[in-house]
Amino acid sequence: MDDPAARSRAIFTVVGDPPRVHEHAGAQEGVYSTDLDCYEFLARHAAPGSRTLETGCGISTALFAVWGTRHTCVVGDRREVDILVEWAAARDIDLGAMTFEIGMSDAVLPRLEPTELDLVFIDGGHAFPMAIIDWYYGAGRLCEGGIVVLDDVQLPSVRLGLFEALERDPR
Ligand SMILES: C[S@@+](CC[C@H](N)C(=O)[O-])C[C@H]1O[C@@H](n2cnc3c(N)ncnc32)[C@H](O)[C@@H]1O
Repeated sequence: MDDPAARSRAIFTVVGDPPRVHEHAGAQEGVYSTDLDCYEFLARHAAPGSRTLETGCGISTALFAVWGTRHTCVVGDRREVDILVEWAAARDIDLGAMTFEIGMSDAVLPRLEPTELDLVFIDGGHAFPMAIIDWYYGAGRLCEGGIVVLDDVQLPSVRLGLFEALERDPR
């Protein structure tokens, strides 16, 4: 999906018919999600073939699949992957460029090959210091000009210490 406008339109299709991967966790509508403007931002930067990684799974994962990025999804619960795979198969969405790494991100991320990434989306564990661990291992793999998106920064457990450090970091 080369056209950013088409990627943006796909958001509404997926949000309207999402993979209900968090039904087991009691999520409203069966899936946790993030703000539409966050998906819009991701859509602008997730061109086909770009190297993307996220912690957590859900609508965002479905979007990366539809957009055709070379995506790694790190998620703790295998059931979510099974539901997403079923959802994609029923809609003829190709998951050939997607790799699922199942396990808690603090254990998984350090053992992944540290290849360069264009975009990292952090929306996995929200308890301290999970987001910071994800940022450390994810953002550390960004290419020059790469982008890290950190969701739920309104939560102290997500932003604690990190904002202060980033404000002092010229990179
Ligand atoms: C808020 S949901 C993600 C929502 C998704 N980004 C979206 O836009 O629909 C959080 C996800 O993180 C996963 N998760 C929670 N703790 C984790 C951890 N320590 N490592 C990896 N995944 C984790 C959950 O299973 C869930 O899939």
